[in-house]
Amino acid sequence: MALAERCAVDRRATALLTGLRERHGPGPLTLDAAGRAFAVPLTAEDAARVLAGAPDPYSPATREKRAALEQFQPHGVLVSQGGARDERRAFNEAVLEYRTRLHSSAPAVVRTVREETGKLLGAVTADDGEIDWRRFHTMWNRAVRRIVLGDAARDDTALTAMLDRLRSAGNWSFAAPRRTALRDRFERRLRAHLDRAEPGALAGALARTPAAPGVDPAGQVPHWLFAFDAAAIVAFRALALLSTHSRQEDQVRAETAVADLTEPSLLPYTRACVLESVRLWPTTPFLLRESVRETRWGSGALPAGTGFLIYAPLFHRDGSLPYADRFTPEIWLDGTARDTEALMPFSAGPARCPGEDLVLLVTSTALAALLERHRHLLERPARLRPDRPLPHTLDHFALRLAALPH
Ligand code: HEM
Repeated sequence: MALAERCAVDRRATALLTGLRERHGPGPLTLDAAGRAFAVPLTAEDAARVLAGAPDPYSPATREKRAALEQFQPHGVLVSQGGARDERRAFNEAVLEYRTRLHSSAPAVVRTVREETGKLLGAVTADDGEIDWRRFHTMWNRAVRRIVLGDAARDDTALTAMLDRLRSAGNWSFAAPRRTALRDRFERRLRAHLDRAEPGALAGALARTPAAPGVDPAGQVPHWLFAFDAAAIVAFRALALLSTHSRQEDQVRAETAVADLTEPSLLPYTRACVLESVRLWPTTPFLLRESVRETRWGSGALPAGTGFLIYAPLFHRDGSLPYADRFTPEIWLDGTARDTEALMPFSAGPARCPGEDLVLLVTSTALAALLERHRHLLERPARLRPDRPLPHTLDHFALRLAALPH
């Protein structure tokens, strides 16, 4: 990430694709690599068409994803196909309560997030006052284990460490040997937590939700655990944005001042700050699809098996958008984002993230709690100035904030 930020990788990639679109037309751009056909949609309309066409003809279960995710979630919805995909998708939507802004576990989520952020602030204040990524992430993982598996999983760092090792192996995709012994141990440990079915945790909701025959309920959980990492990154970047943008920080404070933060609250402006963090720096910059049959594009056709690479920053940071490189939560509240096909922080179409509403609840609750009695100062604030275009790549590992009582 540090190297990517120094080399401005995302700015260069966006400029390259924008230049190719100007030179060759709206595309999609097609290329062959390692004997395989790939297509890069260059317009928001084409990207939306591909995302709307999931899972047929544009399947989210691409070869690369199947090879990578096989390591730790072979039965996850993202790599499933056919009828099994439909059943697993429905199960995920039911447990995660997709399209419900306050999950039925919201009271427990709020309690957990406030306790864990409170402990973090207590510890840093007693120490040097600094919140870096390591501290923030450690706090986050404790909260996530409680939210997903229940309070008794809070300190099971071994489970998270096993998942991290399986994910590292997954990153090597086809090149990595299968870590079956490690996967077995991870699954056994995970099932022990799920068997407790703690009410208030997702594990409780999982046990209560009827599953169709093609669904392995426990097999969906590794994705949830690892996907919460993206939420940590997004929340930490949003905190850095708020620490450098006083107008938006004041808005959050105005919103939270009139809410009872010990109860689940909608906090629309705070949620919009989180959405801006994902728009500016998407945690899934590439949305991948693979066509299951020949597809027609203009006067031509692309063969079955074509890999489609949708590069979200190309659209989120399109220079023709007046807010492209600015922190503008308002666009998520005034209808601008809703009417702009180009914005897809949680993807779009039938494979859109079913965890979106839960993520926005957890992250907005965390931001509200972190700002309730503290203000935060970013070390090297020059990187995120309101009067300058925001960088296209932001290394969250390098962010450091000083927490000061407010
Ligand atoms: C800020 C945090 C998150 C972001 C930005 C995010 C974003 C995304 C995106 C972009 C996709 C679609 C990928 C594609 O189209 O190929 C996706 C899929 C998915 N996400 Fe999330 N996600 C987040 C957190 C979560 C969490 C916490 C959960 C579960 C608790 C979750 C559950 C899922 C699932 C199950 C899928 C697969 C959906 C399918 O294939 O039908 N996500 N997410």
